[in-house]
Amino acid sequence: MSESGTSAAAPEAAPRITVLGTGYLGATHAICMAVLGFEVLGVDVDQAKLDRLNAGQVPFFEPGLPELLVKALESGKLRFTSDYAEAGAFGDVHFLCVGTPQQSGSNAADLRYVESAITALAPHLARRALVVGKSTVPVGTAARLTGLLNALAPAGEQVELAWNPEFLREGYAVEDTLRPDRLVFGVRSAWAEERLRTVFEPVIEQGSPVVVTDLNTAELVKVAANSFLATKISYINAMAEVCEVAGADVHQLADALSYDTRIGGRFLRPGLGFGGGCLPKDIRAFAHRAEELGVGQAVAFLHEVDAINRRRRSRTVDLVRELAGGSLEGARIAALGAAFKPNSDDIRDAPALDVARMLQEGGAAVRVYDPEAMGNAQRAYPSLEYAQSTLEAARDADVVVLLTEWTEFREIDPEMLGAVVAQRKVVDGRHALDPAAYRAAGWEYRALGRP
Ligand code: UDX
Repeated sequence: MSESGTSAAAPEAAPRITVLGTGYLGATHAICMAVLGFEVLGVDVDQAKLDRLNAGQVPFFEPGLPELLVKALESGKLRFTSDYAEAGAFGDVHFLCVGTPQQSGSNAADLRYVESAITALAPHLARRALVVGKSTVPVGTAARLTGLLNALAPAGEQVELAWNPEFLREGYAVEDTLRPDRLVFGVRSAWAEERLRTVFEPVIEQGSPVVVTDLNTAELVKVAANSFLATKISYINAMAEVCEVAGADVHQLADALSYDTRIGGRFLRPGLGFGGGCLPKDIRAFAHRAEELGVGQAVAFLHEVDAINRRRRSRTVDLVRELAGGSLEGARIAALGAAFKPNSDDIRDAPALDVARMLQEGGAAVRVYDPEAMGNAQRAYPSLEYAQSTLEAARDADVVVLLTEWTEFREIDPEMLGAVVAQRKVVDGRHALDPAAYRAAGWEYRALGRP
């Protein structure tokens, strides 16, 4: 590497970027920044992951990203390494993109990866640099980490910490990175804001608005946004519970609500509820942090949001049991879907696999098929049975249950599916199938919150 002098001496030169953590968020960010024309170094402790990325393979399923990775590598602007010393020497702006999972045995966020990334990088920061947190963290974390960073970095207070929360959705990660709804810059100085504006110039130019805040507010924006989205989903699912006993149709109810522009139809789709690596753990960590701060009551409703969401899973199992004739013992169930949502191979806190597991615990023989998440599902739930296609999963099934709304499941012909099952009985856990078409083909169709 021939780094030192040049970029540090020329302030107008484009800042060089490092991305610490090359998981979902980090890999996408690193690739997109390189495609936008910056020189980028991705850093991770997982050598196998780095080898795959350097070889042009994205280690997870994300539409559009593999093509951009190849393009970025070919341009010579993107590389990956495990060497923090190299990262410290290379970068002017360092993005922190490591995971903050839920702690085992607690609702709190586990900050060990954030702390170890800062601790590994800081001793190599010998000149003025900006470290930018993107990971979702409890409010107050950035303020605390600033002290650690300044204490460990040879450049001391010349190294600044900013927070730039990330709102990308899996399945739309490229679009959300290049054309986000908004950019939030949590900063402590005009210099940090200027650096971020430079790094995000292409994104700002295409029209994304920028909101500049302090560090605490930036951290809170992320958990507040995810809490709102989770609440909206649980709200409509609570209405589904009422519809079920009142004999009303939550699908029509949601449709009618969606025309009110104050409410809007997005994140108002009833069904099996939310899962994934973000919403469930973020609302729990937020409630936990609020309790630590003495304002637990303000967000106590998030516990209810979580409870409503969990009830959707057990209620789906109840519906399958009803259709199976009152008992799951010996019933053959085709479970369509394993990923926590379509266009993803992510099974973290996936409602689909939770339901499959509960059905199996109830005595059913469960055969699972998912277009992309089979490998991950098999590793996490080896005791479930797996099929190579929808029809193979459905063969001789007593009940088919749709758990993830992949297009391929939505589009399947109910006649064709009906030809392979033992009984034409379907539970539509995602309100994704056409009830009229299924009933016309002789299926008994059931969905949460619909008569
Ligand atoms: C979410 C946030 O949307 C994103 O901004 C944040 O950065 C990370 O967390 P993601 O986890 O990729 O993104 O999934 P998202 O598309 O938000 O879906 C979350 C879950 O909610 C999925 O399980 C989905 O099936 C469910 N969902 C979504 C519903 O049940 N109903 C809806 O109306 C919308």
